Amino acid sequence: MQTTSSTRLKLGVLGSGSGSNMQSILDAIAAGTLNAEVRLVLADVPDARILERARNHGVPGAWLDCAPFKTKLDGAAEQRCIQMLRDADVDTVVLAGFMRIVKPGLLAAFPNRVLNIHPALLPAFPGLQAWSQALAYGAKVAGCTVHFVDAGTDTGPIIIQRSVPVLEDDTPESLHARIQVEEHRAYPEALRLLSENRLTVTGRRVVIS
Ligand code: GRF
Repeated sequence: MQTTSSTRLKLGVLGSGSGSNMQSILDAIAAGTLNAEVRLVLADVPDARILERARNHGVPGAWLDCAPFKTKLDGAAEQRCIQMLRDADVDTVVLAGFMRIVKPGLLAAFPNRVLNIHPALLPAFPGLQAWSQALAYGAKVAGCTVHFVDAGTDTGPIIIQRSVPVLEDDTPESLHARIQVEEHRAYPEALRLLSENRLTVTGRRVVIS
């Protein structure tokens, strides 16, 4: 069997909700298929389930108060976030259901090391509730995208995409659930490629070696 050398990723996770994607990353680490450790979890919602999951795994977690902003991570909160990630010796930032726009300050602090997962086949359906957008549009195929984050919203270079069919009787919930099954495979896979130094960003394109 061919073995690929890898660098152990030091992950900081930002989330707002359930944290099922972070769970899939923790599970891949535990299964030995991803060379990484989750060093810090930050949530902008004090009682977010993602913090409970972190606690259950003995991972340090904290509420990040992002006031006065409602939809972005900016200003003093951004600076505190960067400091906490640095103090935890994080080298890669994983957005996992983080419902805020990240701004250039965070991106500059972790250049080319901020990743996001989006529940659509970008560039189709950026923004909120992408699965509902796909359903309302009448798309026959939906899916998820793991990408590097740039200054735009859901516009960064694409690392991995996985598709799922849209079924005749789908509801927003059933379609999102099907997409999430693929998300939970795609995010650990993208991080594994990063840890194996197999991702090269050339302009808009991510070449996987
Ligand atoms: C996922 O569908 C992800 O694509 C989107 O937000 C959702 C987060 O789910 N960005 P979870 O918190 O990881 O369960």
